[in-house]
Amino acid sequence: MAQQRTLARYLTEEQRNKGVITGDLKLLIDIVSRACQAISIAIGKGGLGGVLGEAGSDNVQGEAQKKLDVLSNDILLDANEWGGHLAAMASEEMDLPHLVPHRFPKGEYLLTFDPLDGSSNIDVNVSIGTIFSVLKCPDGADLSTPQAAEQAFLQPGTAQVAAGYAVYGPTTLLVLTVGDGVVVFTLDREQGQFILTQENVQIPADTKEFAINMSNQRFWEAPVQRYVAEMQAGKEGPLGKDYNMRWVASMVADVHRIMTRGGIFMYPLDSKLKDKGGKLRLMYEANPMALLIEQAGGAATTGRQRILDIQPGNLHQRVPVILGSKNEVDRVTGYHTA
Ligand code: AHG
Ligand code: MN
Ligand code: MN
Repeated sequence: MAQQRTLARYLTEEQRNKGVITGDLKLLIDIVSRACQAISIAIGKGGLGGVLGEAGSDNVQGEAQKKLDVLSNDILLDANEWGGHLAAMASEEMDLPHLVPHRFPKGEYLLTFDPLDGSSNIDVNVSIGTIFSVLKCPDGADLSTPQAAEQAFLQPGTAQVAAGYAVYGPTTLLVLTVGDGVVVFTLDREQGQFILTQENVQIPADTKEFAINMSNQRFWEAPVQRYVAEMQAGKEGPLGKDYNMRWVASMVADVHRIMTRGGIFMYPLDSKLKDKGGKLRLMYEANPMALLIEQAGGAATTGRQRILDIQPGNLHQRVPVILGSKNEVDRVTGYHTA
């Protein structure tokens, strides 16, 4: 039987044979993957583990936190504090960066995460996930206070050295890029290991499947109105093909479908979101997903700009997101910029 390639082996080979990652980045990704395993176990217990329902608190964005949002955030913080690979972490669930406590050594990386993506799906037993992004901490960055540390994180998505997501669905998967293509690992629950199950993921350039929350239609801008109307017109319309629609409302699950069989995902700007800049967060949702999508041959824009080129203004900045199969993303981006 062919030997299984574990995540540890993949990372070691990326470090040793290709020199793509450092030892500390290997440790970081390994630790994040173990935290995702712990989150997966907690999710799997569901009502038996008392993890469902509201936490009774709000996060910095004014959203009600679920118990699993808080638990997943704590699991990721605890797992990553001690390794010596990180300078600081930032999360959807924390107003300010979390500095590595003084009793632990500080490392050269910064980690951002959406600990639990798709919170509205937790209590209904639909796929949810974790999204993460890794940056280098700039030399001489001021990490004296959490307030000062925010500046170190404000780097464009092109600076990411790794990004990934875990999907907690019928199986738990870890989808990863270290800038050398996209690879997929499946959690073997008996072994407690992520095993490589797909390499060199490629998103088809064309698609007949779109993902958008149609309930926002009346608020969309003209270019998105035009594009969705053209898709709905089907074979007889200007795009000349019949489209299907899917919307899980967990970005990880919607992006993972696109990774698997192509498609276009849109959470565009609309009149309701204009003041906020968009719905999804740049640093721990849009940027890691954009890097993964581009590494798999797809494209990711706001409609007006490549997501990875955005210079972030603050940690919790929101942006419009259009990503997936390249020809479709280029088309709708063209409608915005024409
Ligand atoms: P989170 O649960 O981390 O706040 O993210 C939810 C996001 C994203 O996963 C999803 O694509 C989108 O919100 C769904 O929004 P709607 O409920 O407006 O469809
Ligand atoms: Mn999210
Ligand atoms: Mn979340």
